[in-house]
Amino acid sequence: MLPQRGERGGSEAAVRSFLRRGIESCALQTTTSGRSCTMQFGSFGFRLREHRHAAGLTMEQLAEVSGVSARAISDMERERSLVPQRRTVQALAEALVLSEADRRTFITVARTGRARAVPAGGCSLPRPIADFTGRVQELERLGQISAAAQQASVGAQAVTVSGVAGVGKTTLAVQAAHVFGAKFVGGIFFLDLRGMDARPTSSAEALARLLAAFGVRDGVIPVHESDRAGMYRRLLAGRPALVVLDNGADEAQVRPLLPEPGRSLTVITSRRLLAGLEGAHRLNLTPLPAEDAAALLRRILGDDGPASQSPAVGTLSDLCGRLPLALRIAGNRLTSRPEWTVQHLASLLSDERRRLDQLVAGDLRIAAAFNLSYTQLSPPARRLFRRLSLLPGPDFDARRAAALDGNDLDDTEVALEELIELSLLRAETDGRYGFHNLIRLFARQRLVDEEPTVGHDGAPRRRVDRLLDGGTVTGRRSGLEPAGLRAQRKAAVG
Ligand SMILES: Nc1ncnc2c1ncn2[C@@H]1O[C@H](COP(=O)(O)OP(=O)(O)O)[C@@H](O)[C@H]1O
Ligand SMILES: [Mg+2]
Repeated sequence: MLPQRGERGGSEAAVRSFLRRGIESCALQTTTSGRSCTMQFGSFGFRLREHRHAAGLTMEQLAEVSGVSARAISDMERERSLVPQRRTVQALAEALVLSEADRRTFITVARTGRARAVPAGGCSLPRPIADFTGRVQELERLGQISAAAQQASVGAQAVTVSGVAGVGKTTLAVQAAHVFGAKFVGGIFFLDLRGMDARPTSSAEALARLLAAFGVRDGVIPVHESDRAGMYRRLLAGRPALVVLDNGADEAQVRPLLPEPGRSLTVITSRRLLAGLEGAHRLNLTPLPAEDAAALLRRILGDDGPASQSPAVGTLSDLCGRLPLALRIAGNRLTSRPEWTVQHLASLLSDERRRLDQLVAGDLRIAAAFNLSYTQLSPPARRLFRRLSLLPGPDFDARRAAALDGNDLDDTEVALEELIELSLLRAETDGRYGFHNLIRLFARQRLVDEEPTVGHDGAPRRRVDRLLDGGTVTGRRSGLEPAGLRAQRKAAVG
């Protein structure tokens, strides 16, 4: 069990060590065999080895007591063999002198393994990343939620993990599934719902893929979505499985995939808050705290190398807004260009006008990640988003936003809600709203590109003059005002 807060061992160090143990056992599982982690966690082979070690037996000793050959035990532990016969499982359980509860789980896992071994319809969990950093509290919360889900019929069986592009939703969900998945003896399943694609996976298709992964044969999967949903719920109700649905598009797509009361847990990641989903726990991810962000950057740079010792690491991680994707991109750029110093990249990024263009490494582009969310917005929300980038200061209220947009308060509030729902804007506690600094830069870039004549269409010139005079005064003073805006301002005033 995860140590509880306040208990001995409930300190952050104890939680870290608990998580490390989970992560290490995962690494062990992924390296001892080439097969995917889905088959490893909570698998029969894994449990057999755990129990044998706990009993202090070698393979040969277990072979002698159980009557099962050492070769067969070795194959089972390494998942080289098909799931064993019931009487073999029982002989092993007896030889290992398992408690009644352990014996039941042991037999169930063997049986589930057989079901899973049938037509592996995909849905396997990606491997965890080697340099996973921080998120201790979030993992702790997910641990509690997964423990509660296993208690059967109490509390929600689903949790949403939401946040802006690149904040680490998928990474956290995958990590949690590896750390806590062993308890879900019905298996771990992962499905990308492609919520940001032009054509997200339909609920019907997602259900078909999950049913196939559960071992339901093609010809038996119902044709209609509602029948598929019914079958999926029934199967999930009797199966303690962990299902990760990555990149949920919206409530309508996700709702048919939610479980009925049982012992399963469904983790849904989405850039949307999915505020309309009933009865789900919610976890909203924010950028990493300063210490963890710098630690991640150091790890990417190589903990022992000279780059990671640079005093500019903290500055660089702040310039990345402590957003994991930006940190990954910055780190990858540095490792692929050994002649660059951390200080050099930090100075390139300190020019706000070039920051987003610099945050590119291979196929990772921070602006492209944000753009996927931007294109999901309605036209009024897009326009407000672009123009909000003109406002100075860390946050603003709805009135100020409405004045900027020349719209009435109600319509502006609807558009603000849309921006919050898509994690492009943060709702502060006191009715104020704030941008992540990289998103503000992205909004500004969109404004310069899409509304080069702002001030002439939609927004009366005087209002824009006022905004630019009052609004970006900080930016102008610090030389941060984009060149395009500066030119527009001059043209508008002139
Ligand atoms: N806790 C973390 N530790 C290390 N790297 C992380 C962490 N969270 C995210 N990352 C990295 O940041 C990038 C974006 O993470 P991802 O999970 O894909 O974000 P999201 O799903 O929110 O868009 C990936 O390269 C991932 O490896
Ligand atoms: Mg993701």
